[in-house]
Amino acid sequence: MRLLVTGGCGFIGSNFILHVLEKEKDIQIVNLDSLTYAGNAENLSSISGNQRYTFIQGTINDPETVENAMTGIGAVVHFAAESHVDKSITGPLIFTQTNVLGTHLLLETARKKKIPRFVHVSTDEVYGSLERNGGLFTEQTPLAPNSPYSASKAASDMLVRSYFHTFKFPGTITRCSNNYGPLQFPEKLIPLLITNLMENKRIPIYGKGENIRDWLHVRDHCSAIFTVLQKGREGEVYNIGGLNEWTNIDIAREILRLMGKDESYIEYVVDRPGHDFRYAIDASKIMGRLGWKPAYTFENGLAETVAWYRENEAWWRPLKERNSSWKRL
Ligand SMILES: NC(=O)c1ccc[n+]([C@@H]2O[C@H](COP(=O)([O-])OP(=O)(O)OC[C@H]3O[C@@H](n4cnc5c(N)ncnc54)[C@H](O)[C@@H]3O)[C@@H](O)[C@H]2O)c1
Repeated sequence: MRLLVTGGCGFIGSNFILHVLEKEKDIQIVNLDSLTYAGNAENLSSISGNQRYTFIQGTINDPETVENAMTGIGAVVHFAAESHVDKSITGPLIFTQTNVLGTHLLLETARKKKIPRFVHVSTDEVYGSLERNGGLFTEQTPLAPNSPYSASKAASDMLVRSYFHTFKFPGTITRCSNNYGPLQFPEKLIPLLITNLMENKRIPIYGKGENIRDWLHVRDHCSAIFTVLQKGREGEVYNIGGLNEWTNIDIAREILRLMGKDESYIEYVVDRPGHDFRYAIDASKIMGRLGWKPAYTFENGLAETVAWYRENEAWWRPLKERNSSWKRL
């Protein structure tokens, strides 16, 4: 089977490609990625000579590129997106262009080419925000996105849904909680904290650090997406998460502890506008119906992630230097 992965040079896409090539011996992968600031071909340097891997540098917004990339393809797993909430506040239009219009072009091309399977990788952020004791997001929770990022993801989810209902398009949607692990761009919370501490810099925490996120190791997300690709039903949504809720301040404390630093490194900064308070995922559907479960404990996964960033300074330092204007640094 030839699998088209979009956005395969990003954090989750590159982990997914490595995961699939390691575990499955008869799958070939074509990776379509435009290499935005968040895309890094270095993430996949270990497989550059692999006969089962092909890289196409191009955008999901270009009809000819997408048409060519889908030739001979048996399934699409769609990761390509603008993914950073803070950037969607300072420059939102590209989020609509990539996440909505790009996804629409992929759907339309896949429909015309009769591609038999399409997994759309979405996010729990489309559900909006929960109260501290307000239950969990299920697949039935109404969509209520609050940032331009989550609104663009929700819009793309609605297009996938409409293609299933209108055209019987074989699309399935996954909605995952926050990911952490190796190869995550150092603008996101966990790698930002680890790399700042390695540089002996302070670590910025929004507001009072009380916002709650539900963290899942990226390789667990990848195994869940692959399970959905194999066994998920067309037209369905599957939530993915590990029942692992943490306040941002407790994550910061845990990373400080793992790195042998004290709390004087914490710097509270002005909160993000419209900051969602809590995300938490009910993943009982994918666990019960498809038999998926996470393999990592947070304790092991976080310690391993700290070790990975310590060992891979040559990977993250140039990315951080090129993007030194980030608001959160
Ligand atoms: N990171 C998380 O915690 C998380 C959680 C749930 C869902 N998701 C979703 O998973 C997907 C991947 O997230 P990520 O964290 O790996 O993102 P990322 O920002 O690390 O990677 C995105 C990739 O998409 C590529 N890309 C962007 N625009 C493109 C375009 N027009 N054409 C082709 N490629 C393009 C980039 O070059 C990059 O390689 C996204 O759709 C995101 O919404 C992420």
